[in-house]
Amino acid sequence: MKVMDPCRRRDLRPAWIQVDLDAVRHNASHLCSLANPALLCAVVKADGYGHGATQVARAALAGGASWLAVALVEEGIRLRDDGIDAPVLLLSEPPEEAMNAVVEYGLTPTIYSARGLRAASLAAARNGGGGELGVHVKVDTGMHRVGAPVGEASDLASAVVADPHLAMHGLFTHLAVADRVSDPYTDLQLDRFDAAAEDLHTRGVRPGILHAGNSAATLWHPRSRYSMVRCGIALYGLNPASTDAALPDLRPSLSLRARVSYVKILPAGESLSYGLRYRLERDSVIATVPIGYADGVPRALGACGGEVLVGGRRCRVAGTVTMDQLLVDCGPDASVSRGDEVVLIGAQGEEYVGAEEWASRVGTISYEIVCALSGRLPRIYLPTSDANAEHSATGGPAVP
Ligand SMILES: Cc1ncc(COP(=O)(O)O)c(C=O)c1O
Repeated sequence: MKVMDPCRRRDLRPAWIQVDLDAVRHNASHLCSLANPALLCAVVKADGYGHGATQVARAALAGGASWLAVALVEEGIRLRDDGIDAPVLLLSEPPEEAMNAVVEYGLTPTIYSARGLRAASLAAARNGGGGELGVHVKVDTGMHRVGAPVGEASDLASAVVADPHLAMHGLFTHLAVADRVSDPYTDLQLDRFDAAAEDLHTRGVRPGILHAGNSAATLWHPRSRYSMVRCGIALYGLNPASTDAALPDLRPSLSLRARVSYVKILPAGESLSYGLRYRLERDSVIATVPIGYADGVPRALGACGGEVLVGGRRCRVAGTVTMDQLLVDCGPDASVSRGDEVVLIGAQGEEYVGAEEWASRVGTISYEIVCALSGRLPRIYLPTSDANAEHSATGGPAVP
């Protein structure tokens, strides 16, 4: 089957995501220095939060990350198929049926149940070629999503150590409110985690790598850094907190761009798009942009005051975002032509629109915005000279 290069796909439909791998590498390196001597585990699940898992993983490793983490076994397999041989942690216990693949592809499973332990042991015995399978045990210290209860974690870890096919390589937990910088619940969770680790110690069981911190904890709760931190959103240069908590020197790495496909001047009084919810108060230049909610632009972005950048200026998204296209009110005297670049997320001239801005307008978090950017959009990786860049980019596609 023929697979089309993203740069050619971009010529077919001028809307694309641009990922700055230098920014990812910089962010990884910054997080490494911050967490040092703790290791950095780069969280690249959900296709690297919409940025492209393999490319981001390579950039993060180049920036100093030692581990990668994903949610799904198939996400780990994808990294292996793409030639990545760094350690890959599966953040939740894999389905029993997937355990053979976990061993076959050299992934590191998380374990928090006797069933999971048995499945991992059987798979390791069957496929492991005599070696032990390293596992991480996850403790539920208060997020209550997955993990062994604090009182059972030591028994589980001891059972791992006693199993001839398994080895205890890590103990970890996940924090529920690390983004609320002064919430004491984080310390409570870390106290419980310390107690679980101490219990193992008393039993003479070595826990391996200890880790608890996501991006927010890594940035704002130094106590959570232990021997490894697991950073996702900060790696991409986005703020883990919806508040204005200070973000250190991190660079946003993703921009969302498109080219104007159609321009018209409409008179005052006209209303636009489905539902006719946007009424022009004055004559205005209206640009059509070939990107819509099927690409991950929230349908409600226009209704909640969303803006995009055209010619270095902020312009309102006019009316309902449709499946494949949206309209932009460029104002009465704008000089806009078919083929002009529109920046939906990112910088143009002095102006900047962040994924965080979209998130606060539509009432979500930046994570959901970037993860929702669909596979229909080509991803272009910069810089072109980077060994990580699978496809070159030369400044945007031709006008169709
Ligand atoms: C278990 C676990 N660790 C780490 C992370 C990374 O979180 P963040 O993107 O906030 O750094 C996630 C993300 O949801 C997670 O589920």
